[in-house]
Amino acid sequence: MRVLVIGSGAREHALLLALSRDPGVSALMCAPGNAGTAEIAEQHSVDVASKDAVVALAKSLAADLVVIGPEVPLVLGVADAVREAGIACFGPSADAARIEGSKAFAKDVMASAGVRTAHSEVVDTPARLDEALDRFGPHWVVKDDGLAAGKGVVVTTDRDIARAHAAELLESGHPVLLESYLDGPEVSLFCLVDGETVVPLLPAQDHKRVGDGDTGPNTGGMGAYTPLPWLPEETVAEIVENVVEPVAAELVKRGSPFSGLLYAGLAIGKDGPAVVEFNCRFGDPETQAVLALLDSPLGELLNATATGTLDSVAPPRWRDGAAVTVVLAAEYYPATPRTGDVITGADAEGVLHAGTKSVDGKIVSAGGRVLAVVGVGADLAGARADAYEKLAGVGLPGGHYRTDIGLAAVEGRISI
Ligand code: GLY
Repeated sequence: MRVLVIGSGAREHALLLALSRDPGVSALMCAPGNAGTAEIAEQHSVDVASKDAVVALAKSLAADLVVIGPEVPLVLGVADAVREAGIACFGPSADAARIEGSKAFAKDVMASAGVRTAHSEVVDTPARLDEALDRFGPHWVVKDDGLAAGKGVVVTTDRDIARAHAAELLESGHPVLLESYLDGPEVSLFCLVDGETVVPLLPAQDHKRVGDGDTGPNTGGMGAYTPLPWLPEETVAEIVENVVEPVAAELVKRGSPFSGLLYAGLAIGKDGPAVVEFNCRFGDPETQAVLALLDSPLGELLNATATGTLDSVAPPRWRDGAAVTVVLAAEYYPATPRTGDVITGADAEGVLHAGTKSVDGKIVSAGGRVLAVVGVGADLAGARADAYEKLAGVGLPGGHYRTDIGLAAVEGRISI
């Protein structure tokens, strides 16, 4: 099977690495990729948001399967175009991708499916902002109503900060979503979904704030770990039964069946799991940790999902132990990351590339999240030690990372 992966982050690097371990994958291609993906896949340039460009590339490469990593092409209907061209595609239709692209659609689907989620209101004019803010608090959750790569979210107990963020979004023409605050530790549960068939992967936890101790602004994600030692064993099955299956069934009922990776972001409160958000693709950086423990052929799972035969393949097998991924970010990330810095040690095992490119034989930073270093171990403490040891071998001027990825779980400080 010839597989083309679309995207350029560490998530795509992780997908390619896992695909490269699948004996059923005969050729690996990536577009547009980064300096790391170029080492394991044939690299091509492409405008990921262009249906015509992705279809033309997939045809020219005789791809049997196209795997779309990021949400933007999915929301724009690139997966539909690939399928219409007769090529199997891992990734939902534009209709189904609204579960991420339109928060109003996601809320409506959840209401119909009876899924617990935060109460929310959309504010689209500054004139309504103050009265709406008064209906929320003491924690305010202020989101960009459109796609914002995780960076459009502010969670605060300070009304002035909430107001300022909402006003800034409105001024730049973005409707604002205000949400009630969901208490409890967060879980990212990725599920392969093919219509009403739902196959969960290992649960993971992301660290969204830029600084240790969950301080500073939200980012696209600074690190993740899996599995979650504090999560009761039965919770994944409960989430599948009470959240993901009803949502998948509701999408089928609406004529927008989901095919691909449905990512449920949940808060596990004392009343059970409640949905924070859905995403229509693999999460970054959780994918880097989750796939490090996958012991099944990834190509077979993705192809089965893409071709509507997920119910006929064996469920994924997992290696024992734990995995941790730590993101190395560029100076000034997430505000205005500096690019063009020379990176050293980026070719070591377990170092996945995100914002990197090759210039005159050197690897230089080309984005906010530059690398994602993956550690594995017999337990979470061992995986953390492995990740930070690998990170010590990497150099990036001005680079910064969190030192506490997975630490609260290791120290038993997470409870429901
Ligand atoms: N881990 C956050 C995201 O992928 O959106």
